Amino acid sequence: MTIHDDDPSSARRRPVLSFVRRSGRLDERLRRAWDRYSDRFLLDLSSHPGALDVRRGIRLDRAFVDRVWGVGVPLVVEIGTGQGENIAAAAGSHPDIGFLALEVYDPGVAHTLLLAGRDGLDNLRVAQVNAPELFAVADAGVVREVWTFFPDPWPKMRHHKRRLVQPALAGDVRRALGTGGMWRLATDIDDYALHVHQVMDGRAGFENLGGRTVSLPTEHVGKGTADEAEMLPHADFTESSRFAGRVLTNFERKGLEAGRTIHDFAYRAV
Ligand SMILES: C[S@@+](CC[C@H](N)C(=O)[O-])C[C@H]1O[C@@H](n2cnc3c(N)ncnc32)[C@H](O)[C@@H]1O
Repeated sequence: MTIHDDDPSSARRRPVLSFVRRSGRLDERLRRAWDRYSDRFLLDLSSHPGALDVRRGIRLDRAFVDRVWGVGVPLVVEIGTGQGENIAAAAGSHPDIGFLALEVYDPGVAHTLLLAGRDGLDNLRVAQVNAPELFAVADAGVVREVWTFFPDPWPKMRHHKRRLVQPALAGDVRRALGTGGMWRLATDIDDYALHVHQVMDGRAGFENLGGRTVSLPTEHVGKGTADEAEMLPHADFTESSRFAGRVLTNFERKGLEAGRTIHDFAYRAV
């Protein structure tokens, strides 16, 4: 099965979200970080305080990038930055690149602000929005790289449609990336790896740069049926070596501790 096209009948329905709105309470340290650093590092892109949509009229275009990060500065966008360790480390090591962290969960946003403030990362900005909505208003070629590391796995079969990596987002990411731009992804969930291959391999406009062969079941399993994966027919897929620009976050560490394979992907926009 290949997941390549949107079901037109579902296009008019309410969008399926890849997250559940949780009231993530901030402890004292994160509250202080938010109060202290949000003016400097948090972009205001939503329709009203607390909303996760992207306000009408916002465009992720070159003028916006020039205004926020500086004229001609290349932009890397990470979708679902969690605590922000990864994007903060990258921003610290690459001061000439602009970084945009997209995260919906309050404590994650606050922690990323804390890292940005602590390390004085003037090339890093955070936006608390539903990431696919921002990519929907991105101009062609405005982003150099997009990163999506350890997206929420949504293991139940009926929740697979909530997975962040979807054909519509892939189309918008492709437009946002100039030719030669990269979408890097990683997951520790075999079934999500199959999902990424189904959405991305053979998708027009992307080339899978992987050089490793990985065997995966060719059918999906869900929460109650994960044990059956070994018995299912398998096929070989192409993946990449670990992206050297990624730091080890708790999500990857937990996957490794549980003995899971880490799947890395690098898709180049062609
Ligand atoms: C499993 S965590 C991984 C975090 C981080 N990438 C890491 O490797 O540590 C996935 C994150 O994606 C965020 N997320 C899920 N859907 C999102 C969306 N539509 N827009 C922005 N962030 C999203 C979640 O809130 C969560 O923090």
